[in-house]
Amino acid sequence: MARLKQTYPEDGFFGIGIVNAKDPQNVGTLWRSAYILGASFIFTVGNKSKKQTTDVVNAWQKIPQFHYANVDDLIRHLPYDTCLVGVELEDSAVDIQCFQHPHRCVYLLGNEQAGLTAEVISKCHRLVKLPGDYSLNVSVAGSIVLYDRISKK
Ligand SMILES: C[S@@+](CC[C@H](N)C(=O)[O-])C[C@H]1O[C@@H](n2cnc3c(N)ncnc32)[C@H](O)[C@@H]1O
Repeated sequence: MARLKQTYPEDGFFGIGIVNAKDPQNVGTLWRSAYILGASFIFTVGNKSKKQTTDVVNAWQKIPQFHYANVDDLIRHLPYDTCLVGVELEDSAVDIQCFQHPHRCVYLLGNEQAGLTAEVISKCHRLVKLPGDYSLNVSVAGSIVLYDRISKK
């Protein structure tokens, strides 16, 4: 049987989620952006968000929404050969302007208060940051990262 050699410009996929999100409004806003900007799946880690009134497109009806107990659980269930990209305003992070988004990629955001802890950051394969001296709202940060991804295609 012939092997499939054909590739497509849109090969690859990405998912995005937040660790221990505090505000369901933020979660809903991120889901809405994620679906509209082409995410294959969305997820929560730790805290679950039931009410997401800001997700007016009901992203969970269109793409899978997963939940992981903690970051180790997320890592155990990463799709094969997929890069975990932490999104955090950290000195060691790569500026988004220079960042090349992996084809198969899971973006992980921190919560509104603590951000991504040093331990979680150490578990990410790569780390990316957005410009600015102050943190953006978490759903705004996630939406900009996804826009950057599709704008570089
Ligand atoms: C409101 S921020 C957390 C702020 C936290 N209190 C701190 O000062 O570290 C919530 C999340 O949004 C994302 N975020 C916000 N601004 C960012 C930036 N400039 N670059 C990368 N990620 C950012 C990160 O995932 C962060 O964990």
